[in-house]
Amino acid sequence: MKFLNPSEPDSEDFFQVCKLSDLKEKQGRKFIVNEVQIAVFKIGENVFALNNVCPHQHSAIIYDGFIEDDCIVCPAHGWKFRLTDGKLPSGSKGLDSYKVKILNEFIWIKVIQKKFNW
Ligand code: FES
Repeated sequence: MKFLNPSEPDSEDFFQVCKLSDLKEKQGRKFIVNEVQIAVFKIGENVFALNNVCPHQHSAIIYDGFIEDDCIVCPAHGWKFRLTDGKLPSGSKGLDSYKVKILNEFIWIKVIQKKFNW
């Protein structure tokens, strides 16, 4: 099987990030994918990918948070974000979340850069 260069997306714009076995249960890892900092978590059979920058004080520390009630808790001041969609428990906007697929033990994540028109 041929693996793509991790900096190149596949035909559906997913980037290969790491092997499933590279992730420890409930312990986040940070990656830069398509120039975006993301935090990746494995919980049981599921893998979640969220933006790594907490919107509270714009700290790039979400990967270092802890899991509680299906949320990731920012280690700085305790803001919680749902793992499934990055939103706050109230449903308000929180972190961007990214689609994940697992193929042949490799994790692929679809990260689309936000374009700003200044
Ligand atoms: S920086 Fe995340 S809760 Fe304050």
